[in-house]
Amino acid sequence: MIEVKNVTFSYYEESETDTKNNEPVPVALENVSLHISEGEFVSIVGRNGSGKSTLAKLLNGLIVPKTGVVTVAGMDTVNDETIFDVRKTVGMVFQNPDNQIIGTTVEEDVAFGPENLGVPTEEMHKIVAEAIETVGLTKFSKTEPHLLSGGQKQRAAIAGVIAMRPKCIVLDESTAMLDPIGRREVMSVIEKLNREEGITVILITHHMDEVAMTGRSILMNDGKISFDGTPRELFSNTKLVHDSGLELPQPAYLMELLGLDTGIISPEEAADKIASMLRGGNHVS
Ligand SMILES: Nc1ncnc2c1ncn2[C@@H]1O[C@H](COP(=O)(O)OP(=O)(O)OP(=O)(O)O)[C@@H](O)[C@H]1O
Ligand SMILES: [Mg+2]
Repeated sequence: MIEVKNVTFSYYEESETDTKNNEPVPVALENVSLHISEGEFVSIVGRNGSGKSTLAKLLNGLIVPKTGVVTVAGMDTVNDETIFDVRKTVGMVFQNPDNQIIGTTVEEDVAFGPENLGVPTEEMHKIVAEAIETVGLTKFSKTEPHLLSGGQKQRAAIAGVIAMRPKCIVLDESTAMLDPIGRREVMSVIEKLNREEGITVILITHHMDEVAMTGRSILMNDGKISFDGTPRELFSNTKLVHDSGLELPQPAYLMELLGLDTGIISPEEAADKIASMLRGGNHVS
């Protein structure tokens, strides 16, 4: 579905190099290779400035690699003729919901994308209603978006993206500004899109409990991928987690404090392990 091959990206041109001091051009991504298959639910983590957003923007052609290749469903993102299809295939949801709202009602806002694609009116009503229903905002269809809560606004933004029928959605810290309820609402919509509609999801986040919900986690360090595996594998590697400026999710952190295996992903799992040790008379030292 998505192929990133030996990609290096810099926000600066070679000509901007400080030739006097022979400073190298700072690179945001360095020789990154990555394959994402259809239907995957992938999280991308890493400290501020590690290159997560840069990678996200490369995936739908908002920026193109300096060296290397990014292809989306076989389309090279540098190709101007297919860039429109690339953007339709990979939808993006950003951090601030207020910057993503255009319409005066939720319905109008969600219709913006398909309208631009030239979808006939009849069909558009159906697509828009379905997208709004998927994110659970049907009763707010005629509501002015600015009256919605943060979580509802982000769900409206997601509806706007899914109305374009993308194969993949990239969410760049889309839950960062939300309270726990808003976050849960958005995560449950994303999970449903992946599980029920088979949409590939790429979730950039600093919340490790969200990482635990994904099937695969990619860790960025200094513009490079320093880990690619399951969240369970990531959490078991406490040294890597700490060295990368991340925190374990709470249940795994509890296990770490107890000196136990941190490769768990849910509070229930932690509770089960501790309970069974207590039943077995083992000391949790
Ligand atoms: N528009 C830009 N112009 C110049 N440099 C940039 C620009 N955007 C990002 N960078 C630089 O590129 C590197 C990677 O940044 P990026 O935004 O991809 O990181 P990030 O992992 O998304 O960070 P955060 O967690 O803060 O969102 C950083 O060194 C950053 O300073
Ligand atoms: Mg970012």
